Amino acid sequence: MSKPLTIAIDGPVASGKSTLAKSLAEHLGYLYFDTGAMYRAVTLAALRRGVPVDDEGALEALAREIHIDLKPATQNDGRLYDVYIDGEDCTWAIREPEVVNHVSQVSAFAGVRRVLTAQQRRIGERGGVVMAGRDIGTVVLPEADLKIYLDATEHERANRRHLELQERGEQQTYEQVLDSLRQRDLIDASRAVAPLRPAEDAHILKSDGMQSADVLAQTLLLVSERQSQLNGKHG
Ligand code: DC
Repeated sequence: MSKPLTIAIDGPVASGKSTLAKSLAEHLGYLYFDTGAMYRAVTLAALRRGVPVDDEGALEALAREIHIDLKPATQNDGRLYDVYIDGEDCTWAIREPEVVNHVSQVSAFAGVRRVLTAQQRRIGERGGVVMAGRDIGTVVLPEADLKIYLDATEHERANRRHLELQERGEQQTYEQVLDSLRQRDLIDASRAVAPLRPAEDAHILKSDGMQSADVLAQTLLLVSERQSQLNGKHG
């Protein structure tokens, strides 16, 4: 039997990481873990508690203090998983515009990343996990068995995100969505600590014009290739 792999999926805003990571994990019977939800949870907690989003020390302390839990979805309302902060269901609250507007700033702080990266590593190192984020292949799990960097043009990504928001009944124009996506990508890719970029050994997949089923099929091929390589090495 093949050993359960550790799979890293990184990419910019709305590249389809979450959809791919969730379906891949389901297919393989692995844990799906979305690290972006943790940065969103710290941001939401800061906004609710009045912790200034430019105070690195206070944000790091907050990240240490709160208990963030990601669990399989308990409701059929479009969520991919449940997110709890100290036991309270915050699954939709972490997707609200105020959180979106501040999360790149909060996640750029080394102190916040130190706390969350350590927690993510503990979960990833058990294996049998598909972990999605920005720095999984480069920083969190540099030894991951398979690394995917999922990308698509800005236009395609903004379109997808705009449609998603419309389906949830949120009133944002395409231009607003595009603008927010550009700002987040810029901060995520230009920060000093763990910036968004493909790992040297990542497979880069461009998903423009592709259905999510095609992206999954391509990834499953990469998984079986990698499993054969590893079986060859160990067996
Ligand atoms: O994937 P997402 O949109 O939920 O991520 C929210 C923010 O968190 C994103 O703007 C960048 C940050 N993030 C990060 O810095 N590192 C990660 N591993 C995951 C997310």
